[in-house]
Amino acid sequence: MSRRTSSRKQTEIGSEFVKGILVEPACLLIYDLSLSLAIRSTPLLHESDFFLNFLFRHFPHTGNDSSTTRNTRSMPNEDTADTHASPVAVVTKLIESRRSIKPADFSDRRVEDAFVWQMLSNANWAPTHGMTEPWRFFVFADAARLTLGKLLARIYHEVTPPESLKPAKAAKLVSNAERASHLIVIAMKRQASGKIPEVEEIEAVACAVQNLHLTATAIGVAGYWSSGAAICSEQLRQHLGLSGNDRVLGLFYVGYSGTDWPTGTRSSVEEKVVWSSDA
Ligand SMILES: Cc1cc2nc3c(=O)[nH]c(=O)nc-3n(C[C@H](O)[C@H](O)[C@H](O)COP(=O)(O)O)c2cc1C
Repeated sequence: MSRRTSSRKQTEIGSEFVKGILVEPACLLIYDLSLSLAIRSTPLLHESDFFLNFLFRHFPHTGNDSSTTRNTRSMPNEDTADTHASPVAVVTKLIESRRSIKPADFSDRRVEDAFVWQMLSNANWAPTHGMTEPWRFFVFADAARLTLGKLLARIYHEVTPPESLKPAKAAKLVSNAERASHLIVIAMKRQASGKIPEVEEIEAVACAVQNLHLTATAIGVAGYWSSGAAICSEQLRQHLGLSGNDRVLGLFYVGYSGTDWPTGTRSSVEEKVVWSSDA
């Protein structure tokens, strides 16, 4: 894929999006309706009045709710916050609900491009040291996603030593692409001067991906960040027209979940925190 074609296509899609969402009221109505339908058809959101109550209300900006204290133990749980969800309770619920859901568990339903744009748009609000905004996303939809899947399978054969080669892994790269609605290659554009440490640029991209994934969760779209040698390869980097010190950091698979929304687990935060108060 030439970079020029890709960016032209992206611009076309982008202007379509702007036209559809921001300019034409009729399209805005259609967008709102499809968003509402998607939310209602998603098990996680549909069954949760907690989420729906929030999603159809505006975020209050005052933040004077008593639940926004630093002590997480005093946050309302979803039962008590059912009808008047505080922002912090909604954010907590959203963060805890974000799950890695793999293409094997996706349904056949295509995700609306406008939702993917909303995810990308929110990714773009990640924190960034020096305002370098290093995140880059290459979206592959429809036939393009299959081409990418096949390319990744070829790259897998090239980068894997013969003794470690597992044909099933190459096949999975193809079937994952088929199962997904959109593939988003996650990349980091290195600052020309190199003034900001590379690790901070990677961290900013990770923040952007978290924004993207949380937005997907709020919409009811499933996804997962996949890495691995073929995806993070020099071959893919060059194919995308990335230069010099830019890096591919992974591939985000997008689709609708065809299974129940999974629950997650984490060990307690107290194990990971050292909290000092005394001098
Ligand atoms: C940078 C990064 C790379 C990841 N790469 C893979 C991967 O290659 N394969 C995979 O199965 N999961 C990958 N994951 C997803 C993790 O497996 C997943 O986040 C973890 O199992 C916790 O599940 P949860 O996201 O549902 O909370 C990756 C996650 C991150 C942050």
